[in-house]
Amino acid sequence: LDNGLARTPPMGWMSWGYYMCGDKCKEKPEKCLDEKLILSVVDAFYNEGYQEAGYEYIIIDDCWSEQKRDKNRRLVPDKKRFPRGMRFIADYIHARGLKFGMYTNIAAKTCMLYPGSRGYFDIDAKTFAEWGVDYLKVDGCFVEEDFLNIAYIKLGQHLNNTGRPMVYSCSWPYYIQYIHHKKPDYKAIAPHCNMWRNYHDVYLSWEAVKIIIQHYAEEYGVLSAHHGPGMWNDPDMIIFGTNSLTESQSRVHLAVYVMLSAPILLSCDMSKVTAYEKKLLLNLDLIAVGQDRLGIMAKPHSLEYGVTLWVKRHLPMKGDIYHSYSFAIVNFDSEQHLIHFFPKVYGIDSADGYTVMDVFSGEFLRNVTLHDPMQVTVPPDDVIMYTFFPL
Ligand code: DGJ
Repeated sequence: LDNGLARTPPMGWMSWGYYMCGDKCKEKPEKCLDEKLILSVVDAFYNEGYQEAGYEYIIIDDCWSEQKRDKNRRLVPDKKRFPRGMRFIADYIHARGLKFGMYTNIAAKTCMLYPGSRGYFDIDAKTFAEWGVDYLKVDGCFVEEDFLNIAYIKLGQHLNNTGRPMVYSCSWPYYIQYIHHKKPDYKAIAPHCNMWRNYHDVYLSWEAVKIIIQHYAEEYGVLSAHHGPGMWNDPDMIIFGTNSLTESQSRVHLAVYVMLSAPILLSCDMSKVTAYEKKLLLNLDLIAVGQDRLGIMAKPHSLEYGVTLWVKRHLPMKGDIYHSYSFAIVNFDSEQHLIHFFPKVYGIDSADGYTVMDVFSGEFLRNVTLHDPMQVTVPPDDVIMYTFFPL
């Protein structure tokens, strides 16, 4: 969607992955989706370096409202969990230079059976705009295929009519493919949404992350064709801070997502992010790969032993003729492997050669010519990642 927004993949936090509905605050206080939680994320972003690294959107997912609309047919935030309302939260977020995201569903009810926006597109678009929403996730449960195809476009027009810039996150292709069993027409979707879910929800385990990564590798041809500034395929949230991954698995998770130019949305209690996860999240060399303004989805190449080499071409730096490239070598096998490859085969083309940086350590390893082979040892469930800068 060419609305000037999401020119690089959005980064931030979203409630669903860890908190899910989060509406049983008495029974499960550690999973309560309320004002206190949202403000704690804002404070963590503001005080702990996340904002400076580019984390910006803080998004409330499903289950935030009262069961009934008010007498003016407007949505009402849950009075117990959001006692000061959404405008208060938006102001708190904006005062710290961050952005506010919310959620609705295209049907009459949300996936978790709270009021949805069907029949209320106009009112709801205006309400979100008045509240100061900067990002709207629109789910697609419970509607027929024809309605999906019409309604996402219509709701987008209502959002646009408000005059308030809002990143428009759709789940349109997911529901077309996995509920209605049709092939999504990404060419038709891309002009209307800034980003879209196209695969199953992540859950809090390494298995889920691997399945998503493998899906993106298999579907590379279809997904990469409509992916770039203003229009992003969204593989769903990052599961850091939930005690689900080893250090090497967390490297793979974030490395592949930035290689894809995927949105980077955390979902956790920010105080539970481990020191190592935080180091990855705030690694500016890693973030730079994902926020590259060309926004090309890395291409996967299957090497031997279930090892995949992901290759991403970057926007040349100012004054440079040649592009830099990132390479991520991911090993999903159960054993360590020694991998050889020639970067030249994958596109590097500067006759002056390159200097090679290890993205995780930030160290410049050596300079290479166009014809040098690379040799890397990749442990199981791990990734080695390099950026090649032209000399
Ligand atoms: C399905 C979506 O894919 C999830 O991300 C989340 O928004 C839930 N619905 C909420 O009900």
